Amino acid sequence: MVSIGRKDEMNPVFRRFDTFDSLVDSAARYIVAAAVASVYERGFFTFVLAGGNTPRKLYEVLSEPVFSDSIPWHRTQIFFGDERCVPPGHDLSNYRMAHESLLSRVPVPAMNVHRIRCEETSPREAAESYEREIHDFCRLCDMDYIGMPSFDLILLGVGADGHTASLFPGADTLDEKHRLVVDTTAPAYAPVSYRITMTLPVLNAARKVLFLAAGDEKKETVALIFPPADSPVLPAGRVRAKEETLWFVDFDM
Ligand code: 6PG
Repeated sequence: MVSIGRKDEMNPVFRRFDTFDSLVDSAARYIVAAAVASVYERGFFTFVLAGGNTPRKLYEVLSEPVFSDSIPWHRTQIFFGDERCVPPGHDLSNYRMAHESLLSRVPVPAMNVHRIRCEETSPREAAESYEREIHDFCRLCDMDYIGMPSFDLILLGVGADGHTASLFPGADTLDEKHRLVVDTTAPAYAPVSYRITMTLPVLNAARKVLFLAAGDEKKETVALIFPPADSPVLPAGRVRAKEETLWFVDFDM
């Protein structure tokens, strides 16, 4: 594991794996450790899932007994970093991907799964509703960090353009300082235009963030993020969790 920059600067820590399978196995171990530690320290584990395709294999592996049996699912609260504004059964739904590969395979209580319900209302109303749901949960459990909810672990992916969650390069959502969740429009090249996404302040209030970046098409993008640019311009390069920001990749830099 390569640390770039001093740990106390909360710079990202970069780890390269020889194969995607070894990356996934290590990520699953990391998630189990984070879950056990969070429940031991606070009584619950707030886990934000990433969308896209990369996490699918990780979720499938995490649902296997060797890992799943070590996670206190009844004390685990599942949230989503972003969602495409499609029905939950749609092929491009982040919820559907997580449900198929993980949530339908593990004993997490349905009431612990906080889905972004963007098929019921307008994107703006869906974002406001999800923000209220997060605030309501925060009032129940002490997960505040200077006015922001501090999730225990947020999983993120990165697009070839450097976006993460649904925070795209050049979007005004990157300047949001107060909202937890906003509606946004993805660029034409991204699947599904209308999106709901957590904002940078929420991502940066997390205790830990784990990025998964696999495939050579992401190599150039990630190279722009490591070593940390003085003024990181790519959205994914602007994520700095409170305790630890890890990047797991399966390509040489
Ligand atoms: C989304 C994701 C997004 C994803 C990246 C990488 O809804 O699109 O949340 O941030 O993580 O686009 O996607 P892949 O894993 O499919 O490359």
